[in-house]
Amino acid sequence: MSRQEHPHEQARRITVPDITARKGGEKIVSLTAYTAPMAALLDPHADMLLVGDTLGMVLHGLPSTVGVTLDMMILHGQAVMRGAQRALVVVDLPFAAYERGPQQAFEAAARVMAETGCQAVKLEACAGAAETIAFLSKRGIPVVGHVGLRPQATNVDGGFKAKGRSVAERERVMAEARGVDEAGAFAIVVEGVAADLADELTTSVKAPTIGIGASANCDGQILVIDDMLGMFDWTPKFVRRYAGLRGTIDEAVARYAADVRAGRFPGADEIYKLRVG
Ligand code: KIV
Repeated sequence: MSRQEHPHEQARRITVPDITARKGGEKIVSLTAYTAPMAALLDPHADMLLVGDTLGMVLHGLPSTVGVTLDMMILHGQAVMRGAQRALVVVDLPFAAYERGPQQAFEAAARVMAETGCQAVKLEACAGAAETIAFLSKRGIPVVGHVGLRPQATNVDGGFKAKGRSVAERERVMAEARGVDEAGAFAIVVEGVAADLADELTTSVKAPTIGIGASANCDGQILVIDDMLGMFDWTPKFVRRYAGLRGTIDEAVARYAADVRAGRFPGADEIYKLRVG
């Protein structure tokens, strides 16, 4: 029996070279995922799933991504890998897991790759990021860089602020992007920049760019899944809500609560009828 004919043959997983080959071509569809059932739902539609450290805010109620640990990333990375069969899965290296230098980053990334089975890690373009990305890439760890608005730098920046308001800031973002590109990042997340900067950046780097709040001038797009499904009252300006799950859940739970209080749930068809003996 050939591999293709095997009844349990799974879809071929998208690879790092598949993603790099999309530079300037078909747009890369990417979303964050944090759990197995959600990963399974997104998998047929997405090319790349990111187990983002936004999980700290989205799932764990933290005020920023700064409190997220490596163990949290690994736990959610394992869950996503159980749910996704086809999409390329990337796991974020969290704050303080890689900034000390290439050796620390290698140990963190190797744990993530070995314990989750994901195909790549992502890290923000902090000081020394280019050296770290080169070190990891040469040792078999594919890396996605993250430039522009860097959520792990929120304490230095004084909040989540779009980047490129001055010539110096634009030049800094371009330098970050060129640095991670030359170091070997196979894709670059570009967050919170204006359309002209996203365009200049995308045409200046070899790696495909994946925008979030960075216009359509990127090689692909990513959104936080809970934002695009409408799980929160407030979302950033760049998010398009494709559903209103917050309202749907609120209405469903209100109906359940009313049914329980009125004795309408469970009904006759929702109970076990066991014959004794
Ligand atoms: O952590 C995350 O979810 C991210 C996306 C916002 C790109 O980095």
